Amino acid sequence: MGGIFGFYCREPRSVKDVKTGLRRLTYRGYDGSGVAYISGGALRVVKRPSHVDALELPDEAVNVALGHTRYASRGRITLENTHPLLGCRGDVAVVLDGIIEDYEALRDELSARGHRFVSTTDAEVMAHLLEEVGVVEAARRLKGFFSFAALTARGELVAAQRGQPLVVAAAGGCAYISSDIASLYGFAEEAYIVPEGAYVELFPGGFKAYLEDGSPAPLERKRVKELQYADKAGFPHFMLKEIYEVPEALVRTKAALMEKYLRLASMIIHGARNVYVIGNGTSLHAGMVSSYYFADVGVSVNVVSAAEFPHYALNNVGTGTVVIAISQSGETSDVIRSIRAAKRQGAVILGITNSVSSRLAIESNVYLPITAGPEMAVPATKTFTSTLETLLILAYHVGLHTGRRDSSDLKSLDERIEDLARRLKSSVAAHDKTAEALAERLAAGRSIYVAGSGIVYPVALEGALKLKEAALLHAEGVQLGELLHGPLALASRGLLSVFLKPVDAGATGLYERAVKMAKERGVDALTLGPGCDMPAVEADRELAPISYAVSLQLLAYRAGVKLGTPIDTPPGLVKAVTI
Ligand code: AGP
Repeated sequence: MGGIFGFYCREPRSVKDVKTGLRRLTYRGYDGSGVAYISGGALRVVKRPSHVDALELPDEAVNVALGHTRYASRGRITLENTHPLLGCRGDVAVVLDGIIEDYEALRDELSARGHRFVSTTDAEVMAHLLEEVGVVEAARRLKGFFSFAALTARGELVAAQRGQPLVVAAAGGCAYISSDIASLYGFAEEAYIVPEGAYVELFPGGFKAYLEDGSPAPLERKRVKELQYADKAGFPHFMLKEIYEVPEALVRTKAALMEKYLRLASMIIHGARNVYVIGNGTSLHAGMVSSYYFADVGVSVNVVSAAEFPHYALNNVGTGTVVIAISQSGETSDVIRSIRAAKRQGAVILGITNSVSSRLAIESNVYLPITAGPEMAVPATKTFTSTLETLLILAYHVGLHTGRRDSSDLKSLDERIEDLARRLKSSVAAHDKTAEALAERLAAGRSIYVAGSGIVYPVALEGALKLKEAALLHAEGVQLGELLHGPLALASRGLLSVFLKPVDAGATGLYERAVKMAKERGVDALTLGPGCDMPAVEADRELAPISYAVSLQLLAYRAGVKLGTPIDTPPGLVKAVTI
């Protein structure tokens, strides 16, 4: 899988322009990058098993070029497996986004007919197949969710959409193809979304999109909005910068949430027969916290991983169901697949995303933007806290319908968020220093439990996820009360435990006993919360998940620095999991 970007121009332009588009697609993968282009009448390929920044392209002007940035989902990170992939004759170059499911059988079949394979990718099958048949037939022969584009030595540039996003545009004498509309900023002002099942042929300055029977494909026009890309602004890593940006993001999030959409979304939730909250990873954890927010206003929600939802939850989805789909990127395939399945069964989709041009925003019935600003580090930080805030504000609006909240509560929530943002801002540097001082202990932990109870339990899961991503440490989120039911057996094994000070009434005794017992059994116990080993800004029960999350993010970041891990780009991970 990965990102596809290409152009076909009437006048030659620098082949290096492809890198601009590819750089904007590295959230889809950065395990390899390459470009195919026609020069001197021949098809040439330059590629490297590394980030596109390291790809060296010639100083050459060309009419047509097709590039790819790879996430290694099939085959290791090697030069052979880097896209574009060539067929045996070297006159077809293919780039693929997504997964071809039945490629092994086809590979055997093609090998038996004399094709010689040099990579272990599924994409190469497509290159060989295209030596035998046309693009429509090739796409028809393959199962899976994918999009591919191919450039031939004859200068044909074709593509097929089979479930992974593709957009096309034409402007200034060039035609463009890309995996994401946002990558086209500066190239074109408008772009068209290629629907699933459609094919595209690009030619100098234009394109033709058609369906299998040759009829024109229906194309949805979209404006290409200005991209928000950030630099590190003097910070050593994006992750640290983005943690420091949490306070301003919180203020921006609430300012950007529009009352009319909050009212609409809350009405929909209040009128629902049943409500699901779905997401993956950090977004799933935010969804788990929201179940406390919604319960407080009298609404029960089912929180399900978007990876599981289409397989196990659809029986109860129908007219009257609301699916609250959370995705920072708005592109995560599990989420998109889930909302499509839920929609087909009559559910209403409420999207919550940081990307207003994403598939989630486009395909939701209503969406709420979290407006946290661009987040470049793979470990999500400020988008988590802004998502929590959005969900809390939404729950308060639902509370207006259930009678559990009134307009004065809304006003005071606004002030409490403002106040929290202010105090987070003034304490983040000091808390960062403490995290730095504690980093050695974390880095020495063979395994780390992050233990929490009640509304901060999902934050414990999130803290453990951050330790895995940023510090590459094995960490596990556990419920305080569950420690005695198994996890404590590892106490003597050089275990470190981060205990989150409870904010739910009634859990204090449990917390104190658990910390004491763990210490007695040799666990290196570190407490986190206001006044604890790792301080967190004092916050009420509803806002504590935000405050605790920041302290955990700092701990994970500093442990990563101590261990010298690639904090912003953890191995094997991408910003948006689009397979
Ligand atoms: C977060 O730090 C992770 N990179 C990951 O778990 C992420 O939250 C998950 O892949 C979901 O992404 P999304 O919010 O863009 O859908």
